[in-house]
Amino acid sequence: MNPRIQIAPNGPTFSRMVYGTWRMLDDAPSAQDINRRLNLCLDLGITTIDGAEIYGGYAQEAALGAGLALSPDLRDKLELVTKSGIYIPHSTAPGRRVAHYDVTAKRLIECADAALHRLGTDRIDLFLVHRPDWLTSIDDTAEGLNALVASGKIGAAGVSNYSPNQYAALNSRMAQPLSTNQVEFSLLHMDPIFDGTFDQLQTERVRPMAWSPLAGGGLFDATSSAGKRLAEEARLIAPKYGNASLEQLAYAWVMAHPSQPLPVIGTNRLDRIESAAKAAAITLDREDWYGLWVAAKGHGIP
Ligand SMILES: NC(=O)c1ccc[n+]([C@@H]2O[C@H](COP(=O)([O-])OP(=O)(O)OC[C@H]3O[C@@H](n4cnc5c(N)ncnc54)[C@H](OP(=O)(O)O)[C@@H]3O)[C@@H](O)[C@H]2O)c1
Repeated sequence: MNPRIQIAPNGPTFSRMVYGTWRMLDDAPSAQDINRRLNLCLDLGITTIDGAEIYGGYAQEAALGAGLALSPDLRDKLELVTKSGIYIPHSTAPGRRVAHYDVTAKRLIECADAALHRLGTDRIDLFLVHRPDWLTSIDDTAEGLNALVASGKIGAAGVSNYSPNQYAALNSRMAQPLSTNQVEFSLLHMDPIFDGTFDQLQTERVRPMAWSPLAGGGLFDATSSAGKRLAEEARLIAPKYGNASLEQLAYAWVMAHPSQPLPVIGTNRLDRIESAAKAAAITLDREDWYGLWVAAKGHGIP
């Protein structure tokens, strides 16, 4: 794995690729299975683990905590990221009627305390506001995040799915600037390179985290025209990159953007985690980066 990366001035230092746990419970893993996955990530140099309160039906943090607890020294070798703020009707919250966001100071502090307990740790390395909440003022959200950083319960704060304006507004109230904006970015979802998100983060010298870097598996849809074009382009350029697979080229494509996004990988398969880690060593030529762009879009550059 390439050298670790400080994701923001005064921000945390993370591995170049991040392991995501959104789908972690899909195959009903035991605590031992989760522990094995985490230890494999560690062996491969993927030391940063991304999660969220809502993942796995509000069960992911506790499951990750159980997996961590099986190797008592493991937690200190990893960086834990979690997110809060999305509330959907669920059996764990009887009476909740409407899916909504809540990123008030009160709620964020409650969530961070609960996450610490569920993860079995005394600090969260990076705590993210999962989505912007139109009904919470930036002062309210910032008050919660600033208090959490000041208390040492979280090492740093960031956001996810914020527009550049929303990011700038909240950042203006932060005692310690936000450390990331975790956004969707892949060959099939390029909005952050067009909507100012990555320009803003470069201005701030803050690294994005890129969720669904393989478009949730959509890149491999051989029935779609983009999928067919990408498979063909990957076949064409793979020999230059040690016969890299489409998934490895897709991770390399994400990491090549000058804002230096950290791909958050989502596979549950150990062989695919191993193969993903090798992508950090691939540096795409300019023309090949654009070749994949063109294959994904189905048209040339403007
Ligand atoms: N902040 C947010 O709002 C937000 C939203 C979504 C996700 N995230 C984060 O981003 C992480 C990654 O998201 P993601 O899971 O959508 O990432 P992804 O890597 O784009 O997609 C993972 C999916 O692709 C499949 N896949 C991987 N390689 C494949 C291949 N060669 N052929 C066919 N299918 C393949 C995986 O299946 P297998 O498991 O079978 O390999 C899995 O279902 C999440 O875990 C979460 O931490 C954040």
